[in-house]
Amino acid sequence: MTERPDVPVITIDGPSGSGKGTIACKVATALGYHLLDSGALYRLVALSAQTSGISLQDAHKLAELAHDLDVRFDSNENGEERIWLGDEDVTTLVRTEETGAGASTVAQISAVRRALFERQRAFQQAPGLVADGRDMGTHVFPAATLKIFLTASAEERARRRHKQLKDKGLDVSLAALSRDIEDRDRRDSERSVAPLRPAKDARILDSSGQSIEAVTQTVLDWVANL
Ligand code: DC
Repeated sequence: MTERPDVPVITIDGPSGSGKGTIACKVATALGYHLLDSGALYRLVALSAQTSGISLQDAHKLAELAHDLDVRFDSNENGEERIWLGDEDVTTLVRTEETGAGASTVAQISAVRRALFERQRAFQQAPGLVADGRDMGTHVFPAATLKIFLTASAEERARRRHKQLKDKGLDVSLAALSRDIEDRDRRDSERSVAPLRPAKDARILDSSGQSIEAVTQTVLDWVANL
């Protein structure tokens, strides 16, 4: 499937904890656009591998899983994203640190990335798409209308993640989270296929010390001034 010049795409890439998911969701809602949470697809491959006893080193089986993934996204009555694998609601399971680490491992496998490529492209539907991930602007939607690379300091990202988990009643040490985030950043940035880096034509947006509303507004201003 080729990119469609008639359907606008806004890509938001960046490291874990930069706030991509939250900002992408707010921007998509404000514009009435579709949303692609590409990280969820890698997380779902890791999660299905775990439940079906497939090793995270088995590239062939993982690519098959990625190809056949029976996934559906919708939202609950509060407008929050819900993720279904078959008829199971896996929204909470998909967000655990363990699934995130597994996702970062399966994301290093090029056959898995290839299997997910067309699936991601298919999200480009009218009136427009906001796509968040690591390689949205560099690989999946290289002709995107607006490309953003969202960052935040490592300390701030660890703090945000800590608060998120605490709000969910999960008690994880801040130091352990910082280490996990650094490990994941390293794996995502140093892998040979589609590593995490800003597209040449991306605008860099540092969200350190900024509220969700302020960052969302910056993106919406950029969209309005395209
Ligand atoms: O954004 P996230 O934390 O849900 O992503 C989970 C992992 O998936 C991340 O560590 C790297 C991988 N990923 C990727 O390689 N490419 C994407 N477009 C999105 C996520």
